[in-house]
Amino acid sequence: EKIVYISRHGQSEMNVKDIIGGNGYLSPSGVEYSEKLGDYIANNIDTENTRFVTSSMNRTRQTAMLAGVSPEQNEDLDEIDAGDFDGLSYGEVKCRFPSEYEARKDDKLNYRYPNGESYVDLLKRTRLALNSVDFENCDNFLIIHQAVARCLIAIMLGLSDDKVPQMEIPLHTVIKIQGSEITYQKLL
Ligand code: F6P
Repeated sequence: EKIVYISRHGQSEMNVKDIIGGNGYLSPSGVEYSEKLGDYIANNIDTENTRFVTSSMNRTRQTAMLAGVSPEQNEDLDEIDAGDFDGLSYGEVKCRFPSEYEARKDDKLNYRYPNGESYVDLLKRTRLALNSVDFENCDNFLIIHQAVARCLIAIMLGLSDDKVPQMEIPLHTVIKIQGSEITYQKLL
């Protein structure tokens, strides 16, 4: 059975500031993880028979580059679109748009960012991305984002949609899925 590896990008500048979305680059710790990911890949992955895919965003592409792999890009794997709130911190949203903040807390699955996406929207988009993954002929290594990883893992493992928005996807950890088995290896 073919293996799907999933990793979030290394910690980003936005992660450090608790900012939603953005299209910046990695923090020093994110750079360190990416180099460790390169060692992991060199020691554990049959790179000849593995397809590496990133989103189209700077932080996933930088992670792949520092890990020494040449990925394909798929914009259907881009992070959830926070619309008008892209680039704000969670604290700013809570302070400036309290009713939006509460609405998302109350129903994170269905809540749609103003001019952006909901998790329900993202589940649709990531299903498209999964259709383009070749599960037959090779292993796949996806370097992606928190919300996208939640959706893909739920789809692959057949979890119900209401589990998706709260799923724990730790940074700096390689997630390996083979059939119905999922394992986590923290690298940093
Ligand atoms: O915080 C990093 C991030 O990838 C954001 O860009 C994104 O909006 C968020 O995670 C998704 O997680 P949550 O839905 O829990 O806010």
